[in-house]
Amino acid sequence: MDQSIKIKTDALNLYYGAFHALGDITMNIYSRTITAIIGPSGCGKSTLLRVFNRMNDLIPGVKVDGGVLLDDLSIYDKNTDVVSLRKKIGMVFQRPNVFPMSIYDNIAIGPRKHKIKHAQKLDDIIERSLLQAALWDEVKDNLKKPALELSPGQQQRLCIARAIAIEPEVILFDESCSALDPESTMKIEELMLTLVRNYTIIIVTHNMEQALRVSDMSAFLMIGQDRVGKLVEYDRTKTMFLNPKDKRTEDYITGRFG
Ligand SMILES: Nc1ncnc2c1ncn2[C@@H]1O[C@H](COP(=O)(O)OP(=O)(O)O)[C@@H](O)[C@H]1O
Ligand SMILES: [Mg+2]
Repeated sequence: MDQSIKIKTDALNLYYGAFHALGDITMNIYSRTITAIIGPSGCGKSTLLRVFNRMNDLIPGVKVDGGVLLDDLSIYDKNTDVVSLRKKIGMVFQRPNVFPMSIYDNIAIGPRKHKIKHAQKLDDIIERSLLQAALWDEVKDNLKKPALELSPGQQQRLCIARAIAIEPEVILFDESCSALDPESTMKIEELMLTLVRNYTIIIVTHNMEQALRVSDMSAFLMIGQDRVGKLVEYDRTKTMFLNPKDKRTEDYITGRFG
């Protein structure tokens, strides 16, 4: 794994109105590395992921304090342009959110928004994105087909192609395999292991085997008595799983709760 830092949080706190959801999260996320965020339901994993592309901005009453840096860019600085931030940080959700349009048009949404209109250039982006998402061979003869006719696993890879199409630096995956069968899950895991050569990847997963198979680093979040989501342990995945330092981490990864 790459040792250079891509994202840095410093005493990050997030509030949904009066509810304190994340408390004092300080962590470095490394470039070209797969980082897994794990922990019981409701501990703030999705909230933390959405901090990185400012998706929480869409929720009324959210307040964020503390520093969050993407390279040298302060993500929450008032001068930071959210559209260009989101161009650098793509996201893939739990359920494939394909739109009722063709395979081609689903991927072209981002590039078109960024004013790429030239037909050949767009064709090249679609092909590159589908190749990188390991979907090209299955759809290259049917790019005009409605995307909703693809299987769920193919739809999820289409969403990955759509995220890649805007050439992001970071890709966030929020439980993106949890609705898929084992075979489709394996395909996406293989894909993550290829993509990490070029992208920084952060995944949220409930599947401990998955975290162990794909991630280099793991962050274990949990809520305490005060209900605030905290970072309990953060380490190389192998170290954390073989030799957890905190009893709560050990109990969670061995399936004692959550
Ligand atoms: N839009 C929201 N408004 C208010 N509270 C929220 C919102 N989204 C999440 N929460 C709360 O924040 C906490 C963390 O949620 P979440 O990040 O979704 O956890 P996880 O992804 O680990 O299951 C939970 O208590 C949840 O109810
Ligand atoms: Mg979640």
